[in-house]
Amino acid sequence: MTSRWFLLSTLLLLCAPALAHAEDAAALWDKSCKNCHGPDGRAQTRMGQKESIPDMSRASWQKRESDAELRKVIANGSSHNPKMKAYKDRLTPEQMDALVGYIRTFKAEAKE
Ligand code: HEC
Repeated sequence: MTSRWFLLSTLLLLCAPALAHAEDAAALWDKSCKNCHGPDGRAQTRMGQKESIPDMSRASWQKRESDAELRKVIANGSSHNPKMKAYKDRLTPEQMDALVGYIRTFKAEAKE
């Protein structure tokens, strides 16, 4: 019995930071990225249309872009378009990693 409670509380302790992480990434996205990339990464925004920002929910886009490439653009900005700024001075490495993870969740709604 005691060992079962121990297991359960250990599990909860292990999950808590992961949950907090997911919320952080969503909040960060809403605050810093949504204006251009849209709430769902589809970039159906004025900036998205004007700058032809890629639709991050597309499976082909998700497949083409590696985590490392996404991480690099977030940290250093885009070499193609100065509107995509470098975030390395504004976000921690953990926040940038979390955002890459968050971008991967857009694929769930993918329609090709
Ligand atoms: C002021 C508008 C703007 C904001 C705010 C913005 N972006 Fe971007 N982002 C762009 C544009 C424009 C591009 C397209 C650049 C290009 O063509 O390579 C882009 C491209 C990207 C790409 C690469 C897409 C690709 O196909 O290579 C990633 C990843 C990205 N943004 C993530 C983010 C994240 C994460 C945030 C928030 C921390 C953010 N962006 C905030 C405008 C913005």
